[in-house]
Amino acid sequence: MYTIIGTWKMVYPGLEEAARMLKEGVCAGDAVVHTVRRVEDDPELSSVGYGGLPDREGRVFLDAAYMDGNTLRVGAVLSAENIANPILAARLLCGRKTDCILAGHGAERFAVAQGLPMRDMRTESSMKRWRDTVAEESFAAGAYRGHDTVCVLALDGDGRMAVGTSTSGLFMKEPGRVGDTPLIGSGFYADARYGAAAATGLGEDIMRGCLSYEAVSLMRLGASPEAACREALAHLAGRLGELGESPENISMIALSPDGEFGAATTLPVFPFAVGNEKGSVLYAANIYTKPDIHVAADDEIAHID
Ligand code: GLY
Repeated sequence: MYTIIGTWKMVYPGLEEAARMLKEGVCAGDAVVHTVRRVEDDPELSSVGYGGLPDREGRVFLDAAYMDGNTLRVGAVLSAENIANPILAARLLCGRKTDCILAGHGAERFAVAQGLPMRDMRTESSMKRWRDTVAEESFAAGAYRGHDTVCVLALDGDGRMAVGTSTSGLFMKEPGRVGDTPLIGSGFYADARYGAAAATGLGEDIMRGCLSYEAVSLMRLGASPEAACREALAHLAGRLGELGESPENISMIALSPDGEFGAATTLPVFPFAVGNEKGSVLYAANIYTKPDIHVAADDEIAHID
């Protein structure tokens, strides 16, 4: 038995390949890294890796994390520039007992020392978007402009679980800003005994509820992945509501040790992809409504954004 689940439509091509790899016996960690890397390498995907969203100064800084659900070890890079595949650096760091989370220059130096590929992550298109925005008279510093993080959870045939996340963070972010994506418990968490979870959306809100750890804790107490995502998200939304706030766009995915999966979102529609013995499918979750999880036919996939 194996299952792999990932956020957004952009994850689908790599996830489909990774599902085939899992079928052939590849471990969960390799499947996760393959899927995330595929997104990082695609210059057309504008909020992760190459061609990612620039900060206010027109530089692309990336965050990524990897967690092994069987050892609870974690690795992460924060605010790292020019690392072609931040997920590879995060996975290598995951083997370490200390110094497993590196930021900025330290992360870049580690990647170079490990012989990982380095590149200028800016593309013509990402820089045009930055120049156009800087030129906007109405440019508002700190405004949330939407973005997508790639999050992938996998379970392999030997019961191993792994999580990977990667993002360029918010467009026009303050230099040095870090969101939830590389933060254990907020952007991701995995304990192979209970399950794995990850979040995408506005990191500043996600981390206020430690959403991924919360979802895995709920699974530890017996909740299904679907119920855990919904309850974690509903709890945060309720708490923010008491404080007179509403959560920005937040979506979650979760996976149990028996291959059951679930998702929840504050968006009208949140696409996510799943691969298992039944094949690979792009789904769309609506806010808090399990029965409305919709199995997209092949010809519908192109219409989900
Ligand atoms: N969720 C990604 C970020 O806020 O940077």
